[in-house]
Amino acid sequence: MDPYLSPDSQAEEIVDALCTRLEERGGHSAFAGMIADYLEWVPAERPLAAVDLGCGTGVVARRLAGHLAPGSTVVGVDRSERFLERARALDPEARVQWVGAPGEHLPLAEGSQDLVILHTLLSHVEDPATLLREARRVLRPGGQVIVFEADHGSTVFGFPDPVRGRDLVRQLYAGIVHQPDVCQRIPLLLRAAGFFPEHHRGYVLSEAGRADFWLSSVRSFARLIPSLGLLQPSDGEEWVQAQLRAHEENAFFAAAPFYTFAARGEE
Ligand SMILES: C[S@@+](CC[C@H](N)C(=O)[O-])C[C@H]1O[C@@H](n2cnc3c(N)ncnc32)[C@H](O)[C@@H]1O
Repeated sequence: MDPYLSPDSQAEEIVDALCTRLEERGGHSAFAGMIADYLEWVPAERPLAAVDLGCGTGVVARRLAGHLAPGSTVVGVDRSERFLERARALDPEARVQWVGAPGEHLPLAEGSQDLVILHTLLSHVEDPATLLREARRVLRPGGQVIVFEADHGSTVFGFPDPVRGRDLVRQLYAGIVHQPDVCQRIPLLLRAAGFFPEHHRGYVLSEAGRADFWLSSVRSFARLIPSLGLLQPSDGEEWVQAQLRAHEENAFFAAAPFYTFAARGEE
């Protein structure tokens, strides 16, 4: 069961591992670069009203607050009070307004926003279509939506037996991502919610030899495998040790596709 579906009912160890991973990946240059790329599509000359939906610890909302013109508003919405607690602590100047609410029912007026960003949210919800319809409701006519997702269903980690390795990775992601294949549906979901495609970018974040971005992912899996029971204990230990050994021996490999979809509602 994806822990992001009900973060507030998880053990502290799990929430801490998730928050640590969100901040580590958000601070990594490759990941930060993909955020910087899509922020190029967001005008910074005039004030905007923007929402980071499913903001977690606030990686994107803080970036947005730094990017937008003075006089802009940034609202970070998450249904988890425990993530929002971290987000508030990481934003001592309160540049972002942090709001606890489900993304399916936003406490924002119809047509009140210029921009809604959903950054690795849709893969963690029961019904992505409802979230996108709600984003459309709060956007002004012609307002912009940006969806960023990892294609978890295509993520690979090197393993001595590749067939077994693929199966273990599939099990790992099945336990932490409710919709591992959502990327394939995003263009359809955006159109169904009344958005027209505007920009798109795709990336492969891969590392060979030593791990860096993927090392913090392996370390968070090392914490989450036993606490969430993602794999049989002996399989989990074997998989983590194989990844750490490969890193130490300069023989590591992992890769995942990431995609950004930007679209607008009709004027
Ligand atoms: C994978 S995290 C992404 C956090 C942040 N966007 C980032 O990339 O660092 C998903 C976040 O969405 C939140 N979330 C999940 N379902 C939600 C929903 N239906 N409404 C609002 N927030 C939700 C979770 O609490 C979690 O903080």
